[in-house]
Amino acid sequence: MMHLDSVESAGGRLGAVLSAPRSGAAVALDRHGPWLVTTPVLARRVLTEPGRFDFPGDVSRSGDLSSSRGETRSGHVLFAPLTPDQVARGVDVFSSEWDAALRDHDSRAPGTAYDAMLLLRQPVARSTVGAVLDTDVGTRDRVADLTLGWIDALAPVISAHRPPGRWSRARRRERRARFALDDALSAVTGLPAPSEQVATMLAAGVQVPIAAGAWLLAWLAADTSDSVDPVHAVWETLRLTPPTWVTARITTEPVDLGGTEVPAGRVVLVSPLLLGRLTELVPGDPELVAGFDPARWEDTTKRPGAWLPFGAGPHACPGRTLGMAQLVHLATWAGQHRLRLSEQVGIDQSRGIAPLPCRFTIDAWGGHA
Ligand code: HEM
Repeated sequence: MMHLDSVESAGGRLGAVLSAPRSGAAVALDRHGPWLVTTPVLARRVLTEPGRFDFPGDVSRSGDLSSSRGETRSGHVLFAPLTPDQVARGVDVFSSEWDAALRDHDSRAPGTAYDAMLLLRQPVARSTVGAVLDTDVGTRDRVADLTLGWIDALAPVISAHRPPGRWSRARRRERRARFALDDALSAVTGLPAPSEQVATMLAAGVQVPIAAGAWLLAWLAADTSDSVDPVHAVWETLRLTPPTWVTARITTEPVDLGGTEVPAGRVVLVSPLLLGRLTELVPGDPELVAGFDPARWEDTTKRPGAWLPFGAGPHACPGRTLGMAQLVHLATWAGQHRLRLSEQVGIDQSRGIAPLPCRFTIDAWGGHA
């Protein structure tokens, strides 16, 4: 059986965070930080006290990552959660676009493996754009393509070891892609917020669900159990491989984090990936906490999501209900087929975490209508 590279044995920053001592206090990963919090209580504090733990300005290195609705201390503004109507619209689009993407693959390259990260691009992009904007289909699809173009152009800027210079090729390409999206959005009537804020919302709402969806397909393809509850499978995926596996805040004053003094102006990290492996938050055998076992959530004594895969506080994910709905749709579809990984899945850490490669086939008796 093919399987997934173990997150536990991954190197890089992921490894450093997972192997940090879980002392109950904040742990300095280096002499001057960053500091990592290792308990749910401290994590919640960091994310819900924006006056002390400020949202960093250049998470995307392209300027502002946050937007609209009331200024936060550093001048960032906050997003309103999507409404149930927006979510319903987005899920409808996801459902038809997912079927279309499968059909398209089957007609272009029949019999070849599906690449989860590629296959999910269009359905997720169109779904999220369809939820956020109430436009005609042509505009929706154009904005979806431009959003994907901006995300692709952002990738080398974000993953670069050192921030690329302002006039570097990567920066110029990223700016061009961002302006193209911005132009298209400016032409849309009745935007819910200024166009650059909508662009940010779309980028956040496309890139992360693509990775989450691919992880979900990877886990389900590697899993051998007969029937899996789709919602449980989604929670288990977001527990073991939350795409936003770490998020940062900057201290605005000296703070005491569980007995550790952190000076002002330092980086504090919260890791949903680390929290998702704390046995106190996860039902089932503590020895098996790192294993994919959706059925563990049949035990309702622990609350799924306590490890904050969608964040918490003023910068918590405004698209979480749409993200969950897209993933549950995907898990339901997967449950009706027999997926099989066609090669070992690796972990790309260049921007959050994403499964790469992540290719699968559908067994003959599965097939999709
Ligand atoms: C499974 C899917 C998703 C996951 C796991 C996810 C996860 C997250 C997390 C952890 C954060 C907080 C980051 C932090 O505190 O630094 C966040 C923020 C955000 N998410 Fe999501 N997200 C998902 C889907 C979406 C969707 C569908 C949208 C839009 C339609 C969206 C839009 C955003 C935005 C705009 C922010 C920034 C909020 C702010 O800074 O105020 N996300 N997301």
